[in-house]
Amino acid sequence: MGIEEALPVRLREQLRDDLIAQGDEFVLGIPKVELHVHLEGTLTAELRWKLTQRNGTKLRIAKNGPELKTLEEMQVAMDLLRPDPSRVDNDEERFQFFEAYYEGFECLKTKEDFFDLAMHYFEHAAKMNVRYCELFFDPQGHTSRGVGWDTMMVGFREARQQAEADLNVKSAYIMCFLRDLSPSSAMEHYKAALPYRDTIIGIGLDSNETDRPPTLFDEVFTLARRDGFKLTMHCDVGSKNTHEHIRQAASVVAGAGLDRIDHGLNAAEDQSLIDMIVKRDVGMTICPWSYLRHTTFAELGPKIRKLYDAGIKISINSDDPAYMEDCWVLENMLLAKRLCAFDDKDVARLAKNAVHSSWAEPAVKERLLREIGAVCGRFYPEK
Ligand code: ADE
Ligand code: ZN
Repeated sequence: MGIEEALPVRLREQLRDDLIAQGDEFVLGIPKVELHVHLEGTLTAELRWKLTQRNGTKLRIAKNGPELKTLEEMQVAMDLLRPDPSRVDNDEERFQFFEAYYEGFECLKTKEDFFDLAMHYFEHAAKMNVRYCELFFDPQGHTSRGVGWDTMMVGFREARQQAEADLNVKSAYIMCFLRDLSPSSAMEHYKAALPYRDTIIGIGLDSNETDRPPTLFDEVFTLARRDGFKLTMHCDVGSKNTHEHIRQAASVVAGAGLDRIDHGLNAAEDQSLIDMIVKRDVGMTICPWSYLRHTTFAELGPKIRKLYDAGIKISINSDDPAYMEDCWVLENMLLAKRLCAFDDKDVARLAKNAVHSSWAEPAVKERLLREIGAVCGRFYPEK
């Protein structure tokens, strides 16, 4: 995949600052829907530090790493983690990412911690004009540490209510199963989560994809669809057997395939996958900044553009902002615009794609589309 040509950390930071400095009022102002962000991936060094101080938990970058004693040590450790072509290869980077990502969970202990985690995202989102979002969380990473369902779900539910009331940000949660754990653990967690279904709109699949194809989890996804949940799964970029995983996600799992695919960028290399995704009208959540770390600048834009031009409802999202140069949905939209030479009309279409492929109520979707239309009208009044 040309890791040797991917942008190093310093250039990615420069690119981020340059994109923001442009002051693109249209991209900032357009009402946004975010469909792919891991709440635990928004745990910045600062938030981790705050929660660690409150709970008295230990701060480490990896399970067997040394204890970090200050916020500055944590910031340095997180900086060092970010992939740089001069430092590590793809697989090693992914391993390090997951190690650090799961170690980050340690600071989440109480209902207040889960509330604060979600509110921290919502406050950031409101500033970027995010009006609706569907947020991933990984319950298995919390129950395995002894955290109870009420602790997680009541914290998330209260944050959701407060964000809607105070910030005008609506939301729903997507419970992801960790694909490197067993299908029976996924089923057990699915059943345990049913009392909280008012707070959970959909079911996802994330974590390390190597040798963990979508069909392995067919039983629990089939049951979840029957129970009325929406379905999505990660098909990470450049994963082993990625085309087959995308095919299963798009057309096999739970009878005829899922409602959305997370990432799936490699579909751009296979016309039969593109045709199938178009035919089934499966939305794809694209997170450009995360691909920039492994892909060359030159090859990334054309792949995203190909999916967009084929008529697939791609949306632009952030994934794990705390681990990605602090790039949130705004920076990802600015990056997509530059990479693909999108104009403001395209940006509006991407925003509408996100509304259409979201799982919001029809009335909420209509309102969001009207809001997007109003902002377009303000920037480009009809003569
Ligand atoms: N869980 C959190 N972030 C993830 C990512 N980028 N890929 C797969 N699983 C994840
Ligand atoms: Zn993701």
